[in-house]
Amino acid sequence: MEQVLFRHNHPDRMVSLEEYRLEGGFEAWAKAVRAMSPDEVQQAVIDSGLRGRGGAGFPTGKKWSFVPRDLPGPRYLICNCDEMEPGTYKDRVLLEKNPYLLVEGMALAAYALQVNHAFIFIRRGYEQAAHNLRQAIDEARRAGLLGSNILAGGFSLELDLHQSAGRYICGEETALMNALEGLRANPRAKPPFPAIKGLWGQPTVVNNVETLANIPAIIERGPAWWKGLAAIPEAAGTKLFCISGHVQKTECIELPLGITLGEIIDGPCGGMRPGSSFKACIPGGASTPYFTSDHWQVAMDFDAVAKAGSRLGTGGIVVFDQNTCMVGATLNLIRFFARESCGWCTPCREGLPFVQHILERIEDGLGRPEDIDILREHVQRLNYAFCALAPGAMGPVEGLLRLFGDELDEHIAKGKCPFKGSRSH
Ligand code: NAI
Repeated sequence: MEQVLFRHNHPDRMVSLEEYRLEGGFEAWAKAVRAMSPDEVQQAVIDSGLRGRGGAGFPTGKKWSFVPRDLPGPRYLICNCDEMEPGTYKDRVLLEKNPYLLVEGMALAAYALQVNHAFIFIRRGYEQAAHNLRQAIDEARRAGLLGSNILAGGFSLELDLHQSAGRYICGEETALMNALEGLRANPRAKPPFPAIKGLWGQPTVVNNVETLANIPAIIERGPAWWKGLAAIPEAAGTKLFCISGHVQKTECIELPLGITLGEIIDGPCGGMRPGSSFKACIPGGASTPYFTSDHWQVAMDFDAVAKAGSRLGTGGIVVFDQNTCMVGATLNLIRFFARESCGWCTPCREGLPFVQHILERIEDGLGRPEDIDILREHVQRLNYAFCALAPGAMGPVEGLLRLFGDELDEHIAKGKCPFKGSRSH
């Protein structure tokens, strides 16, 4: 299977700049800065069908096209590497293996947008990835691939790495911009979207690490070639899937978008662990509704997963076996989201701890029949929160109600968790 993101990877170490360049690294950048106009780079990204890999799947080229080019003052590009969605570790793996790919992808994006100052906002705790990036930025600058008048093409770019102080909400793009500005990391109202009014009030594009890392291949090999890497014609490119849970092999793998869930689990994951059978999974990070064995044949692509009632999200797949209590699993996720709420808006600040409380009492055998309706009501109400955190948090709760209503009922009827004493929670 053709790989673009992990093509240069070594199993035990980061690729060197020399190796990356020998294998064609930075050729796309040299080609663009010498022989392509910014509009041509943007058009290639539009034609490729690349959709954002941070979770929302927004078309990347379209996002870039919203940026006004005629306003006075600078424009900015931010790489969102505040990867903190439970079950998601793809950007860390990518950067630990090959930070040059992100540097090259950011250079190409900055060129297309005519941005001269770009930032990487990286999660605290991703120390190795940050170390690698610092090294890659320094080396690229020394090689004349960043800085002023790059490759004598007249374009200049400075790249700054910023380590987050460390909160989940900092990954929300507008909270991230507040954090970069030194303010408290509360989300801002959208619209205006950052593409129009972002960092320090200027037009700003925020793209995920994996999104940007795809751009060198799109420019080097062409958008049609890149699009064709997907397993189905409706999808485009490859995707990093990071798998955890009760499978034989838990790892981050690059696969064609549109490969089925079953093919991922039975293929590179080596199937379920001995004694385990597949019960359910989180298909795309902790804020996505569950899939069950009924979804085994679903193509793992943005539209197909949405049609099947969930979201592709980040591609972080968490697999649960038959001994998993889905109430307990959901409670575990809600505890995370309730703790990470920034407290800015009432539905999220008050709603998530309340949902946690309801799930706790059901799991503890103290649930009441009316709790089911309370949970249903909160799936609706938390949509009125200020940002995507609370609606996302309710994704697994919605899945629990829709797919595992019998398990909730059994907890309440028996006055205990029917899975207590079984291996996994
Ligand atoms: P969103 O759908 O509101 O926006 C997606 C992107 O498109 C944003 O950059 C937004 O500015 C842009 N956009 C959307 N409509 C636009 C318009 N009309 N004009 C200009 N730009 C527009 O989603 P959001 O809130 O940015 O992200 C939510 C997602 O983040 C969730 O789906 C979740 O899966 C994911 N997530 C990922 C995490 C991670 O660790 N990778 C952590 C938490 C959430």
